[in-house]
Amino acid sequence: MSDKSTNLEPAILVIFGITGDLSQRYLLPALYHLVKDGLLNSQTVILGISRRDVSVDELFEQVELCINEVDKTCDPAVMKEIRERTDMFQMDLEDQAAYRALHEKLDAIETNQGVCMNRLYYLSVPPKAYAPIVRLMGEAELNKSCRHDRADTRLLVEKPFGYDLQSAQELINETVKVFKEEQIFRIDHYVAKETVQNILTFRFKNPIFESLWNNQHIAGIEISQREDQGIAGRAAFYDPLGALRDIIQNHLLQILGIVTMDQPDEFSSQQIHAKKQAVLEQVEPVPIDQVKQRAKRGQYKGYREEVNNPDSATETYAEITLFINNPRWHDVPIKLLTGKALNERKAEVDVAFHGHETSTTNRLRFRIQPNEGIELELITKKPGFSYETQTTTMDFSYQNNFGDSGHPNAYERVLVDAIRGDRTLFSTSQEVLLSWRIVQPLLDAWSKNADDLIIYEPGIADPEKSQ
Ligand code: BG6
Repeated sequence: MSDKSTNLEPAILVIFGITGDLSQRYLLPALYHLVKDGLLNSQTVILGISRRDVSVDELFEQVELCINEVDKTCDPAVMKEIRERTDMFQMDLEDQAAYRALHEKLDAIETNQGVCMNRLYYLSVPPKAYAPIVRLMGEAELNKSCRHDRADTRLLVEKPFGYDLQSAQELINETVKVFKEEQIFRIDHYVAKETVQNILTFRFKNPIFESLWNNQHIAGIEISQREDQGIAGRAAFYDPLGALRDIIQNHLLQILGIVTMDQPDEFSSQQIHAKKQAVLEQVEPVPIDQVKQRAKRGQYKGYREEVNNPDSATETYAEITLFINNPRWHDVPIKLLTGKALNERKAEVDVAFHGHETSTTNRLRFRIQPNEGIELELITKKPGFSYETQTTTMDFSYQNNFGDSGHPNAYERVLVDAIRGDRTLFSTSQEVLLSWRIVQPLLDAWSKNADDLIIYEPGIADPEKSQ
C-alpha cells in the first residue's frame, strides 16, 4: 500500500499486552484500517509483547474475527501486509534481563530496516503494571532511541492513570524519571472521537455561539455516556475501578474541559491544554457534606454474580453535579452521568439555555455517538391560523453531510497522532491530577460505606426509578 497524506515517519510500535482485550477490540483493528488506508510508513513495524509464546498467525487468528465484526469482510491483501509487518516478542514483564533483550531486538529491527525509527511503547496492560514496567524500561534504557537529541521514544498509556489522586501523583513521579512529559501520551479515546474534537471547532469557529456561552444564557449542561452492555466479561479490570474511575474521572471531565474552556489564542496543543487546565482548576470538587445531594451511584442486578464478588460495592452507574468557580460559569450546574446496562448506548452533551417569555428552553445537543451530529431545539410556530408552537429540531448529521465510513475512528487517530508526536488529544499530567482532585472527595465518601448504592434492573433508563 502506498504512503498517503499523513506522511508518517517510520516507527516501531511495541504493544505490551497485545493479546489482551483492548488490543484485540480496538488497537489491532485500528492498525488494520491504517494499513488498509496506506497511512503507515511502509517501514513501520508492529512488535507484539506477550508472556505466552504466541505466533503472529495465532495472534491474528483471534483478531481476524474482531476485524470482521466491524468490517463484515476482511481484505486478504491487508491481512497479509499487517501479518508481514508484525513480529512477536515473548517476555516476562518482571524480568529485567528481558527488557535488555527487547532493547537488542529493537536495535536489530532498525539495523535490518537500515533506518532510525521512532519507538512507541503502548502499555495495553492493567494500570497497576504501568509503574514497574516503566521502571524496568528505564533501567534497560528503552527510553533512548538512536536519535538521542529528540523525543523519539514515546510512551502510550491507557486511562485510568492512577487509582486516586495520590497514586496518580506517584505514578507521574515514577514515569518522569524515565520519560519526559512530552514523551508521554496518555490516551483518552473519547477526546479522539471526531464528534468531541468538533466541539472545539463548533465553539470557536462559529462566533455566533461563543457570545451565548456563559451563565447569562446557559442554564445547565449535562454530559452523559450510557451503555446498554454490562461489563462484558471484564471483571478483573472493572471491579476495582467502577464508573467514576472508568469514565467520569477521564472521559467526561475531559469533555467538560472542552465544553467550558476559554478560547485558546490559537489551535495549538499547548494553548488548548493551557485553557483546558485553567478551567479544570476552577471546577469545585463536591464538598464531602454534599455528596448525598450532588452524587448518585448504582449497580445493576446480576453484577455481583458476574464479577464473582458477593460483597462488591462497585458502582456501574454514577452521576455527579459540578460547578465551576469563575464568572463565566458561576451557578451553572454541570451534570456528568455514566452507566452500564442501561436502556441504550448513547453519549451526548446537552446544553440547556435559559427560557425567554415561556418556560421552554432551547437546547443544543452534541451527539457524540451514535447518530453523530449536532441538534438545536427551536420553538416553532405550528402551521395554521393560531399561534400555537411546537419544539422542532435543526439537525446536522455526520451521516448526511460526510457519509459514514466511521473512519478514522478514535484509535486510528490516537495511533497516527502518537506516531507524528502531536499531543493535542492526549491528557497532560496536570489534567490527570486536576481530574483526580475533582473526584477524590467522592471516592473517599463512597469508600466508607455503600448505603446509597442503588441496585437497578438492567435495561432501565434511570436507575433511580428502579427503586
Ligand atoms: C472505556 C471504558 O474507556 O470506554 C469502558 O473502560 C467503556 O468501560 C468504553 O465500555 C466505552 O467506549 P466507547 O468508545 O465504546 O463508547
